[in-house]
Amino acid sequence: MPITLAPSILSADFARLGQQVREAAAAGAAYIHVDVMDGHFVPNLTMGPVVVRALRPIADELDLTLDVHLMIEQPERLLPAFAQAGADILTVHVETCPHLHRTVQQIRELGAKPGVTLNPATPLVTLEEIMPYVDQILVMSVNPGFGGQSYIPTSTEKIARLRRQLNARGLRHVDIEVDGGIKPDNVREVVEAGANIIVAGSAIFNAQASIAENIAAFRRAISRQ
Ligand code: DX5
Ligand code: ZN
Repeated sequence: MPITLAPSILSADFARLGQQVREAAAAGAAYIHVDVMDGHFVPNLTMGPVVVRALRPIADELDLTLDVHLMIEQPERLLPAFAQAGADILTVHVETCPHLHRTVQQIRELGAKPGVTLNPATPLVTLEEIMPYVDQILVMSVNPGFGGQSYIPTSTEKIARLRRQLNARGLRHVDIEVDGGIKPDNVREVVEAGANIIVAGSAIFNAQASIAENIAAFRRAISRQ
């Protein structure tokens, strides 16, 4: 599967958001990952549909996929607003959805691609019944809420086990995304385990190097034999 980089704008400079998204796209990022936090499901509060709406024209111009990660309680209440704002992928947490199949159907009816995700301590068995209905499964490799945390090492084996389960069920087309603590020095291991969409925030938007340099470092690490 081709590997896609999904810079998380959580670590971007919000005063220069459009410019930073353009720089990421110019360096080869195909997705932009939008972290939505409600101050309830996770302790942090971030952005809502207005940010997705602001990014939509740039995404259209540069052929970017807006990948929206909803770390919010009762996501079904806000799905229409995010879909209308222009989200391409809407990912919900299994921990927030008692009627997950209905929620996934709702996302499809709204014209977006459904994704599901789970916290590090939530077992893969919670995905067993929903797997055939989703386009993307996001494996959280940190506890959601903040950028800049360290990768939880057991996530690699979880990704590998998920890829084996998808393959065994004939669901090879389902994307596995990984999110949290991914850097050039561990990206190779998650790709080898079976992840094909790579989220990175603090390793792409930081003061140490330019966005282009940071993305180039990821690309080198991924393609190294
Ligand atoms: C964590 C978010 C992540 C986060 C990743 O709750 O879902 O997308 O921004 O940031 P880094 O790459 O810095 O761990
Ligand atoms: Zn995220």
